[in-house]
Amino acid sequence: MDYSVKSGTPEKQHSSCLAVGIFAPNKLSAPAQLLDQVTGGAIKQILRRGDHSGKTGETLILHHLPHSPAERVLLVGCGKEKEFNESHYREATAAAVKALKQTGAAEVTSYLTELEVKGRDIPWKIRQAVEITEAVLYRFDQLKKKNDDGDAGRRALKRMILAVPRRSDLPPGEHAVKEAVAIAGGVQLAKDLGNLPGNICTPTYLAERAVELAKQYGLKSTVVDEAAMRELGMGSLLSVARGSRQPPKLIVLEYRGGGDADPPIALVGKGITFDTGGISIKPSAAMDEMKYDMCGAASVLGAIKAAAELKLPINIVGVIPSSENMPGGDATKPGDIVTSMSGQTIEVLNTDAEGRLVLCDALTYAIRFNPAAIVDIATLTGACVIALGSPASGLLANNESLARELLNAGKYTWDRAWQLPMWDDYQQQLDSNFADIANIGAGREAGTILGACFLSRFTTKSKWAHLDIAGTAWKSGKEKGATGRPVPLLTQFLIERARKEPAPAE
Ligand code: BES
Ligand code: MN
Ligand code: ZN
Repeated sequence: MDYSVKSGTPEKQHSSCLAVGIFAPNKLSAPAQLLDQVTGGAIKQILRRGDHSGKTGETLILHHLPHSPAERVLLVGCGKEKEFNESHYREATAAAVKALKQTGAAEVTSYLTELEVKGRDIPWKIRQAVEITEAVLYRFDQLKKKNDDGDAGRRALKRMILAVPRRSDLPPGEHAVKEAVAIAGGVQLAKDLGNLPGNICTPTYLAERAVELAKQYGLKSTVVDEAAMRELGMGSLLSVARGSRQPPKLIVLEYRGGGDADPPIALVGKGITFDTGGISIKPSAAMDEMKYDMCGAASVLGAIKAAAELKLPINIVGVIPSSENMPGGDATKPGDIVTSMSGQTIEVLNTDAEGRLVLCDALTYAIRFNPAAIVDIATLTGACVIALGSPASGLLANNESLARELLNAGKYTWDRAWQLPMWDDYQQQLDSNFADIANIGAGREAGTILGACFLSRFTTKSKWAHLDIAGTAWKSGKEKGATGRPVPLLTQFLIERARKEPAPAE
């Protein structure tokens, strides 16, 4: 899809469709009013007849209004003007694209970007508009012989023109389009990888896709294989792969947009391409969704792709420990004790708590790059789904200002996270009688926090934050599919980091 920014009033646009906002009840937004005037009150008349009420998300397509050079006008309900806020803007934008999908319009000029959203500027509205449009138009049909939805093959919409009120809004508007398109590209990569089934998206496949990405953007890539992992002493990561026929891979990507001496931001993503639970096997219901257990890895690749696309002046290293978690004759058993790359021994009390086992060695490996900060991203705990549901990822950190940066990036992109505490009080629950640390706590309490506490034992030497995306990385049910989260949050975090002066040495 092609996006551009334009300033100009709606009544003069020769577009195949103009999208304008209608507030409830029956109140026209300023661009709708202008259109109404040139069309001799055609819009007001339609509202009077009761064909559109202005309820948030309600849409109506009008054809060939008198004296309007546009072929179609799309009325988009925005709810009560006084209550209009960020989420209404997002809802209205999504509804407009859904309605357009059902038409043959190849182009739309949207005036929704001119609606006043409290506290948000034009670039924010443009960013959201582009990202939401791409999300609504996304589909994963590469494994279908033929498209079977009603609107298959239509895909008429090719061009979106985003209206801005002033000429001076054009440069920041165009910059926002660039950022949004880059983020949407990263989101799409993360969704595609997430949606691929476990029999296709194996650790080897993920590594191949990462190497391909590296070639495309001139990144350095390294794939650490099983033998090299053994050399490095990654006994914890290796213990997870034992039950599988698929060899594990540790994938490393280096993007260097910053100065030679600038320490990189390290992004570490859980890449379990299928999680059966291992010997501590999961129940069968919805187990298919454990193909999504590599969404942390996918988000690292998506964010690096977006950063490279934007040529951010910053260094980034992505580290992805990838493995299957399977039962088998040689699989790790509950009670087994393994030695991590850090030297700490781990009692594996539950083989289904495998994410932390692959991540701990990846974190130790990432620290070798002397990163300015490490952020790991993982579908780590079912407990996080219970605690926060799908609106927010869980955030835990050993550094408050890093936590704040990530929370803010999530707020801006509407890819939100919520911080949970990581007080020392929790740590003792990971004590083991037989090893330095156990991989689970004694009970079911505070599961998300304990997962983070486990990881914190391996990141004492760095500023570190952990995003638990178990509730946000994919949707279940009828709309089952990867969401691409938290690529927007991560990319925004990198954009902000790149904007800042390099931090003085502490
Ligand atoms: N990949 C799962 C976490 C998960 C479960 C994400 C359900 C989304 C939905 C992870 O490897 C896991 O199994 N975690 C265990 C940890 C427990 C054994 C301490 C869990 O959450 O049950
Ligand atoms: Mn598991
Ligand atoms: Zn898992």
